[in-house]
Amino acid sequence: MSTILFEDINVKYDKTEQYALKNLNLTIQAGQIVSLIGPSGCGKSTTLNLASGLLTPTSGAVKINDSEITGPGLDRGVVFQNYSLFPWMTVLENITFALKQKSKEPKEVITKKAIQILEKVGLDEKAQKSFPSALSGGMQQRVAIARMFILDAPVFLMDEPFSAVDEITRNQLQDLLLNLWEEGETKKTVLVVTHNIDEAIFLSDRVVVLHDGQIQEDLAIPFKRPRNRFNIDQEEEYTKIRRELLKAISGEY
Ligand SMILES: Nc1ncnc2c1ncn2[C@@H]1O[C@H](COP(=O)(O)OP(=O)(O)O)[C@@H](O)[C@H]1O
Ligand SMILES: [Mg+2]
Repeated sequence: MSTILFEDINVKYDKTEQYALKNLNLTIQAGQIVSLIGPSGCGKSTTLNLASGLLTPTSGAVKINDSEITGPGLDRGVVFQNYSLFPWMTVLENITFALKQKSKEPKEVITKKAIQILEKVGLDEKAQKSFPSALSGGMQQRVAIARMFILDAPVFLMDEPFSAVDEITRNQLQDLLLNLWEEGETKKTVLVVTHNIDEAIFLSDRVVVLHDGQIQEDLAIPFKRPRNRFNIDQEEEYTKIRRELLKAISGEY
């Protein structure tokens, strides 16, 4: 189980005057799903890229448990908005390629595992043999989620993973993520960027609102799991939490 710690983080990109993140302190507890929300440009992707190791802070440290992150690693699975699959490989090859990098198991065992998880995310044999370009956005994102789960890293980092698909697909992918997360033997630590309040509430144990590079709000989402999207808004505090988040996102104090 892995805790992600952001300690006194400041980030300033080259050639910019302003800081993208200012004095950010944030702990993502092991086994929790935490959403980062906020308006465009508030620093969500910057925060996620620090955790993925694609970006180094100007000052401060990002740690997994006690060790400082110095670059990308197989201890963290990443899903981006735009599917990031290798276009020249079939779906099955995309999945097994990632796993072969990590696992020393025989090829047949890896292929079998890959087929199992692809079926679990709803991709049949025909889809498994397809190239990503032949699949819809939602299906490509299923592949990306399958790849993240099969790698079995303790930390999942997702940057607007469902924002490029239609609403029904989006709901299916949210359910898929939660089902896979809930059935895992050890709970993954998940940091997910979204700009959708309802998605953030539905998925998360905690929602952190960023505004202009700083934490504006940090709310626990107390609803029991497994959650049901059709009645979660009946929960006692739902309206209050939603309103607080909406205010924070709009920059109202
Ligand atoms: N590579 C970059 N070079 C310069 N400025 C950047 C770069 N990436 C992001 N920024 C700036 O940093 C701020 C935060 O960006 P970002 O983290 O991408 O926001 P978000 O993901 O919340 O939309 C924005 O002002 C953005 O313009
Ligand atoms: Mg972003």
